[in-house]
Amino acid sequence: MNILILQGSPRANGNTAWMAEEYKKAAESAGHQVTIVDVAKKKINGCLACEYCHTKGDGACIQKDDMQELHPLMNEAEVLVLAAPIYYFTLCAQIQAPVQRMYCVNKPAKVKKMALLMSSYSPNVYDGAIGEYRGICNYWQVENMGVVTAKVDEQKTDATRQKVIALASKL
Ligand SMILES: Cc1cc2nc3c(=O)[nH]c(=O)nc-3n(C[C@H](O)[C@H](O)[C@H](O)COP(=O)(O)O)c2cc1C
Repeated sequence: MNILILQGSPRANGNTAWMAEEYKKAAESAGHQVTIVDVAKKKINGCLACEYCHTKGDGACIQKDDMQELHPLMNEAEVLVLAAPIYYFTLCAQIQAPVQRMYCVNKPAKVKKMALLMSSYSPNVYDGAIGEYRGICNYWQVENMGVVTAKVDEQKTDATRQKVIALASKL
């Protein structure tokens, strides 16, 4: 399958990037094609709610930023994995922006399954993000393959690696 991982942490060697790499390795070893996009390195603005896309734009966004290169990848992906650090009890803004910019086409064209990888400092901070993620899965009518979280003492551990591998094995 064609898998796209949106990695939202600006920290290239951080915990979320590590989880994304572990997922990629596991999925590739099972024969899948995996692309990781470090969306924090991209310039992706929030949606302007101008409705250009739904009126004159015929599905195209009026904003000409790095979402132009991400849109085709989102629309070609069959599996979308969101990898996000928790910022203030929810998905980091770097992940929320590209998801919300899909408003112009409503949903990624080919995505059938999604998964969520998250890291945080504290325990018990994931409910808001998981609720948002589940809402997106329901709205886009895609299968939720599952969620792996890693708080500070679970980061870059073999136990977390095994959870990520188990999640990737559901593909
Ligand atoms: C702006 C900001 C907000 C954060 N908010 C939370 C939070 O609400 N709860 C929490 O447990 N950790 C919070 N953290 C800590 C990160 O979620 C945690 O360090 C995570 O592992 C970072 O992932 P990374 O290593 O991939 O960058 C926050 C960090 C930043 C920079």
